[in-house]
Amino acid sequence: MTLRDGSVYLIGAGPGDPELLTIKGHRYLSQADVVVYDRLVNKALLSIPSEFCELIYAGKRKHLHAMSQDTINQVLVEKAALGLKVVRLKGGDPFIFGRGGEECDALDAAGIPWEVVPGITAAQGAAAITGIPLTHRDHNQAITLITAHRRSGRLCIDWDLLLQPSQTVAIYMGLSVLSDIVTGLTERGRPPSTPFTVVSRATQPDQLVLHSTLGAILEHPQLAEVSAPALLIMHHRASHLSAPTIDCNALFARSCGSLSNQLAHQDG
Ligand SMILES: C[S@@+](CC[C@H](N)C(=O)[O-])C[C@H]1O[C@@H](n2cnc3c(N)ncnc32)[C@H](O)[C@@H]1O
Repeated sequence: MTLRDGSVYLIGAGPGDPELLTIKGHRYLSQADVVVYDRLVNKALLSIPSEFCELIYAGKRKHLHAMSQDTINQVLVEKAALGLKVVRLKGGDPFIFGRGGEECDALDAAGIPWEVVPGITAAQGAAAITGIPLTHRDHNQAITLITAHRRSGRLCIDWDLLLQPSQTVAIYMGLSVLSDIVTGLTERGRPPSTPFTVVSRATQPDQLVLHSTLGAILEHPQLAEVSAPALLIMHHRASHLSAPTIDCNALFARSCGSLSNQLAHQDG
């Protein structure tokens, strides 16, 4: 399928490893006239569009926005209204804590057609590299994906939801409020022995995985080495946790060098 002129395609870039982009996402990217991309997108993916494609950085970092959300919406609308094929490339999945819904609302309001190409969200990437199954018939029959954010200086978390048994909880954007989360959960009765894992930069060459418990994570000797983006996972997998099973460094080096060639060959 050829991309339609004057449309916007929201594509999930996955959690970091460029090989985790879907084949459909790759095909759409290779046809784009304009790519508006986020900070967490692996820059290796920007070699996929043609040399004539306009690349626009719209990255957001806590309190530091290269572009406001309104401006991003406006750029998408304006570029599509010029008749261009616009790709909005977002980290992970566009519809999971990615403001994809807001962008679709703005496109609808302007009468611009859009389509979403899903991506692997951070929780799936982190689960895969840590060996923590997000669901398991014997332990956890549900998954909660939750964001830890502050509103008016207060942590806004649905604690009752997090205290439900038999689930895996993946907390996005929670690193800066880790101690509030640990305190909130333990004060409300979650056992300190609950397995708790912090995954920093999952599927990237410098990924870091700290397996611990709710009661001990704040004292983990490597906690200070954790950097954003990081995901917090509360789970049931106390036994046979191991170091990441994938050699991400080798994988990454291979990915960056060969992804475009391999898929361009398939496309051609
Ligand atoms: C604005 S949200 C975007 C989520 C994205 N749409 C997704 O589906 O993964 C950014 C947060 O996702 C998490 N995240 C994204 N990529 C990650 C990665 N490679 N490793 C760990 N956490 C990640 C972090 O919690 C980060 O603060």
